[in-house]
Amino acid sequence: MPLFVKSKKIESSFAPDADVVLYHGDVKDFLATIPNDTVSLVITSPPYNLGKEYEDRVSIGKYLETQSGIIAQLYRVLREDGSICWQVGNFVEDGQVLPLDIYYYPIFKKLGLFLRNRIIWHFEHGLHASKRFSGRYETILWFTKSDDYVFNLDPVRVPSKYPGKRHFKGPNKGKPSGNPLGKNPSDLWKIVAQDWNAEIWEIPNVKANHPEKTIHPCQFPIELVERCILALTNEDDWVFDPYAGVGSTLIAATKHNRRAMGCEKESEYVAIARQRLAAFFNGELAIRPLGKPVFVPTGKEKVSQIPDEWKRNATKRARWHTSTN
Ligand SMILES: C[S@@+](CC[C@H](N)C(=O)[O-])C[C@H]1O[C@@H](n2cnc3c(N)ncnc32)[C@H](O)[C@@H]1O
Repeated sequence: MPLFVKSKKIESSFAPDADVVLYHGDVKDFLATIPNDTVSLVITSPPYNLGKEYEDRVSIGKYLETQSGIIAQLYRVLREDGSICWQVGNFVEDGQVLPLDIYYYPIFKKLGLFLRNRIIWHFEHGLHASKRFSGRYETILWFTKSDDYVFNLDPVRVPSKYPGKRHFKGPNKGKPSGNPLGKNPSDLWKIVAQDWNAEIWEIPNVKANHPEKTIHPCQFPIELVERCILALTNEDDWVFDPYAGVGSTLIAATKHNRRAMGCEKESEYVAIARQRLAAFFNGELAIRPLGKPVFVPTGKEKVSQIPDEWKRNATKRARWHTSTN
């Protein structure tokens, strides 16, 4: 359903009283314009050094050295009660997996940040590996700058599995034992990807048919960012994505009345981010609704059926399974 919000001016450089800032250029230059203790939430998916079209692949050491310098500046602009959500996957070198969050963790710790969660974002699509198990999750490291941080659980609660459960002893015996607003969503998030499957039953390219998909090779699902924004910031706070891509963070922040800033070096992505923000203000941007239930195939869809040519293999598979059980 289209969502109408009041249109906001998009500034192209930092201004303390702006609502939305989208800077076209290098993150280092943009950071230099932001005062200390400004931002409540830094949320980003940095370049992974995979040699994507927007990055030159360098050694892991060189990559981390550059990122350390940026992270130190992000720490400087972060408010005392603020958070950093750093979403990364793996760097793969000669077939060997280097989990980026493990490499990043000491950089944040050295600055004195506190890890509150290592969130697993699980999805069900992607490349099929042949010499290791296929990768189906990425992580979000959530750090706070101090012990006094914003955490609003209620806006991000999810429906409980058994809302009818009751205390069976003690002073609350017989009363409902859960929370009427739902349960804590935990640190394992199954966001969007299943829904992408729901959209593609007859279409081979999964990502291409997702309502939020643009030409960017690895954009955030807006819903993923929304959850962090709702839990870790309050209205009017600044949310900052230093690697803004096509503006998913800015849209999520604006949607929830936060002030949004982002920075992106590729002009093509900046233009798309601007178009998406404009479409959002006009109520024309397709966004998967936050908390929409996960799609479960019924088995009747054409793509759920085992192809006739494969039916012979079913016997072979059954044999393997029974011989190992
Ligand atoms: C993983 S993508 C982020 C995508 C984003 N989360 C979205 O939803 O569109 C990383 C982005 O960082 C940008 N980038 C890489 N190095 C940069 C730099 N030094 N300064 C600014 N942007 C940079 C890339 O062009 C790319 O769009």
